[in-house]
Amino acid sequence: MAPPRSPLAAVVLAAGKGTRMKSGKAKVLHAVAGRPLAYYPVKRALEAGAVPVVVVVGHQGDEVRAALEAALPGAPLRFAVQARQLGTAHAVLAARPALRGYSGPVAILSGDTPLLRAATLRAVVSARARARAPLALAAMTLDAPRGYGRIVRDGRGRAARVVEEKDASEAERELREVNAGLYCAESGFLWRALRRVGAGNAQREFYLTDLVAMAARSRGAAVVAVPPEEAAGVNDRIELARAGRVLVGRLAEAFMRAGATIEDPSRFDCDEGVEIERDVVIEPGVRLRGKTRIGAGSVVGTGALLTDAVVARGVTIKPYTVIDESTVGAGAILGPFSRIRPGSEIGEGAHVGNFVETKKARLGKGSKANHLTYLGDAVIGAGVNVGAGTITCNYDGERKNPTTIGDGAFIGSDAILVAPIEIGAGAYVAAGSTLTDPVPPGALALGRARQVNKEGWAAGRKARRARGG
Ligand code: UD1
Ligand code: CA
Repeated sequence: MAPPRSPLAAVVLAAGKGTRMKSGKAKVLHAVAGRPLAYYPVKRALEAGAVPVVVVVGHQGDEVRAALEAALPGAPLRFAVQARQLGTAHAVLAARPALRGYSGPVAILSGDTPLLRAATLRAVVSARARARAPLALAAMTLDAPRGYGRIVRDGRGRAARVVEEKDASEAERELREVNAGLYCAESGFLWRALRRVGAGNAQREFYLTDLVAMAARSRGAAVVAVPPEEAAGVNDRIELARAGRVLVGRLAEAFMRAGATIEDPSRFDCDEGVEIERDVVIEPGVRLRGKTRIGAGSVVGTGALLTDAVVARGVTIKPYTVIDESTVGAGAILGPFSRIRPGSEIGEGAHVGNFVETKKARLGKGSKANHLTYLGDAVIGAGVNVGAGTITCNYDGERKNPTTIGDGAFIGSDAILVAPIEIGAGAYVAAGSTLTDPVPPGALALGRARQVNKEGWAAGRKARRARGG
């Protein structure tokens, strides 16, 4: 739990369309590391202690709101609608009703800067407090400042104003210190100053950056240098991919620091929220999504794709195994090429081999289904051997029916188990059987035609042919 802090509110600007994404979907809904872009600044503001966090939405506002509420259940979020995107100052003003009654510092973040760290936000917040300034802004120095607002300093080196590139003189464009788009403002100053912002500029927009000159004329604007990597905005899909790589790289580093081996972090994919314990080994080309958790000492092989999978300790997941919304018990061995569909529970020490598909199937402790099998809506006890090619026929064209197999049963290869059906504990099912009736415990079930051998048949056939028969 974070220690109590002095009050802080935050506004996250997420109303824009993001034209350069060339997308039917609002920019802040595009996912990086499994979360929508806007999730990150909102989450960092919460981590920095902001209550509430007001998200200004516009384009696809309902979807943005739903995505954030789903990703951050119970968080102190409020939403404000900016129906027309008339500029960043206009967007912040839209948040005012949601902050009625609040007075104190207000952090302002962009919805498209997913790499910002909470510590950097806190640095901007405390720099404003220390300077007793009405406003603090984050700055970065870039070799290629293109597209950013430039910070213009006065003769005494104090920030005098920010000029947007489209409004800048040639000399101003040479400035390499730029506005990172992260601010902290005192609420009284903020609302007073926003009312005075006009749109007399090249873009006919209400610029939030006009507040810098207003603060400079009052008690000054504090400038905090921040790492350029963190303040990089995502404006197109190339930057989206880059931001994803940085975020996944940070997750990988955290796992490695905590004692997991990621053999090649550049070929590792992971969603924010995944958990990996110590001594886990992740081979190249693994993708872990959603709420996946991997227990200590487990190995995840190349090409595995796990979504909301809960994997216990000491599990071996061989290459190209796909697991969805399922659990795997300690010491189990899966793959290569197993497909574990939602609702499966693979027991402790169980084996699931190549081209085996499970769906809502429980495989008990130490049970094995090693080859070419479909197990759906099945409850399978401990120590069961499921032979190659076994199929549970769970669907009769109308509904799904259950299969139950008792402890220690032996299912011969190529068995067809027509559900609903129950195979008793310790029973044997002969290879190639098609079963429609229950099998009592300990019985042998044969559900196939008896074999007939016709001695000498092949030679007889040749003779018949020779006679033209
Ligand atoms: C802005 C700054 C610029 C700074 C840069 C840093 C202004 C005028 N300029 O420029 O000085 O260097 O960020 O990244 O502020 N938004 C709304 N409603 C609007 C307009 C924008 O919600 O009416 C949101 C956008 O969705 C985006 C954020 O505000 O998340 C920033 O807007 P954007 O248009 O990207 O500003 P920049 O041109 O990048
Ligand atoms: Ca931007």
